[in-house]
Amino acid sequence: MAHEEELLGRFVEELKRTHGCGALRASDIGAEVVLMGWVASRRDHGGCIFVDLRDRDGTTQVVFRPDVDATSHAAANQLRGEFVIGVRGKVVSRGENVNPKLATGEIEVDAHELEILNRSKPTPFPIEDRLETAEPVRLEHRYLDLRRPLMQKNLRLRSRVNKIVRDHLDGHGFTELETPILTKSTPEGARDYLVPSRVQPGKFYALPQSPQLFKQLFMVAGFDRYYQIARCFRDEDLRADRQPEFTQVDIEMSFVTEDDVIELTSSLVAAIWKEARDVTVPLPIPRLSYADAIARFGVDNPDLRFGLELAEITDLCMTSGFRVFADAAGRPGGAVMALRLPKADLSRSELDTFGEFVKPYGAKGLAWIRVQKDGWQGPIAKFIDAADKAAIASRAGLEEGDLCLFVADARVVAATSLGRLRVHIANKTGIVPKDRWSFVWVERFPMFERDKDDPGRWNAMHHPFTSPLPEDEDKVLGDPGAVRARAYDIVLNGTELGGGSIRIHRREVQSIIFERLGLSQEQARAKFGFLLAALEYGTPPHGGIALGLDRVLAFLCGAESIRDVIAYPKTQKATDLMCEAPSNVDPAQLAELKLKIIA
Ligand code: AMO
Ligand code: AMP
Repeated sequence: MAHEEELLGRFVEELKRTHGCGALRASDIGAEVVLMGWVASRRDHGGCIFVDLRDRDGTTQVVFRPDVDATSHAAANQLRGEFVIGVRGKVVSRGENVNPKLATGEIEVDAHELEILNRSKPTPFPIEDRLETAEPVRLEHRYLDLRRPLMQKNLRLRSRVNKIVRDHLDGHGFTELETPILTKSTPEGARDYLVPSRVQPGKFYALPQSPQLFKQLFMVAGFDRYYQIARCFRDEDLRADRQPEFTQVDIEMSFVTEDDVIELTSSLVAAIWKEARDVTVPLPIPRLSYADAIARFGVDNPDLRFGLELAEITDLCMTSGFRVFADAAGRPGGAVMALRLPKADLSRSELDTFGEFVKPYGAKGLAWIRVQKDGWQGPIAKFIDAADKAAIASRAGLEEGDLCLFVADARVVAATSLGRLRVHIANKTGIVPKDRWSFVWVERFPMFERDKDDPGRWNAMHHPFTSPLPEDEDKVLGDPGAVRARAYDIVLNGTELGGGSIRIHRREVQSIIFERLGLSQEQARAKFGFLLAALEYGTPPHGGIALGLDRVLAFLCGAESIRDVIAYPKTQKATDLMCEAPSNVDPAQLAELKLKIIA
């Protein structure tokens, strides 16, 4: 193009954009416009060149006709996918060729002038929503992946949700405060990411697993209502809904009970769903005790979109003729639980796959019976006498044509394996309703759980700053397994969205909890001395919660993984494939930090 040089810069410096690529409608016909964006596609049709021009706003069809402007038509021949261009032209009607699928489908732009602002190599995958490309390739070229309209939509929604959160909490008297990233270990049950100190060789900062202690200290300081959209770091095993670096909507409030935090958080969640998705969340959100969640659904994150509730039959199995049931029922902490599948027509091999499914949860077997007109059928039916059958049938609500599955084991194993199987079967049989948002609060969690490797030790189930229920306080040292916590989780469709608790605000109680967790007074002082000190200067009763913002967005966007709502996520191996972090460092840097790699 003869005057390519002269044109250079004219679009950005002189003409300026008049519209985004998703803006033009029939009412704009006749207008002269300037658009800029990326070439999504180029088609040659008997002399005319059609270009779909894309930006964050949408796509507009641009037509280069030799009889309208020969120069730009000639230049348009050079266009390839993802070239960045500026186009000046006139909005015209598409006439017969309206594209109802496109917001701009009634019009096209007749190009009078074209500037190629930049060129592009062929991209490693097409820039479009439906994509079969393996995720690692997407992550390596994340800037191209993020150019896809779907990812643009997800991240723009993320920005909107941040604003909804800020507006809502601001309207409820909250102050947005920041907390340090270079800090000291904040225990949330994961490993810490450590940062070596150069100025004090041999010493380390930890990145925060959450702002937990800082937000409590804001309450001591009298801020009363704090929030932060906070980045948290946890070195833990990763899954689709977990990242080593993630974001919480972190909240703390003074002079409150569980009800106050639950009400505030419910209103926040309702505002988010209303404004982001136009979904009305019915308030109040139902509440379930942890004990009931386990008894009815087997898990502490129950999916309430469908029935299939469990039944506990331990007490009916004490003298069962089936030894496996009687043994489990007679053992301390043992349980027999049943899962009724109404009118289920499942083959033996499907039942066998369910037996395999429960094994990873520790179940040693899965028993089943089928209720037929002439009685129970199945391998264990003959061991159970008529009176026991009648009692079990009545407890589990069995009717003719039903299947019933049983696990006899330690209570947690029986509950978890049948609880997980419940969800698996619901998904497999397609009984989970689409577009249903089933929120539920689960509350009164156990305060402690036994350490997996050292059963003599107890760990905090939420975190060590959670208050026990006042009526259970005297059991902390004697019977820790029976202590319930003032802790709550908000669960959506079987996923934990957030969790929090009413905190300990009395120093004596905090000391007893540390003692129960096996911390000596010296250890407690070394780790949390600043908290213990603060508790002596007028700490108000307080509590709070943190919502996993990435999980909230995955739901709002219908994404399968939180990676699809995080701009630059990490892989399951905690790697950033684009910038290749983590990476080796210069030996000089290590020397400065007085560090040596020993393996
Ligand atoms: P908790 O550890 O339950 O509580 O975390 C709160 C919420 O954060 C989200 N979340 C994660 N999201 C993505 N990747 C992860 N690795 C990850 N880990 C947690 C979850 C979870 O429900 N300080 C307390 C809160 C409090 O007591 O106020 C805390 O962090 O959605
Ligand atoms: P067995 O007598 O071990 O052959 O077991 C008979 C049936 O009981 C099989 O279907 C096993 O899967 C099942 N079973 C074995 N152990 C358990 C258990 N702990 N809970 C429930 N069912 C079991």
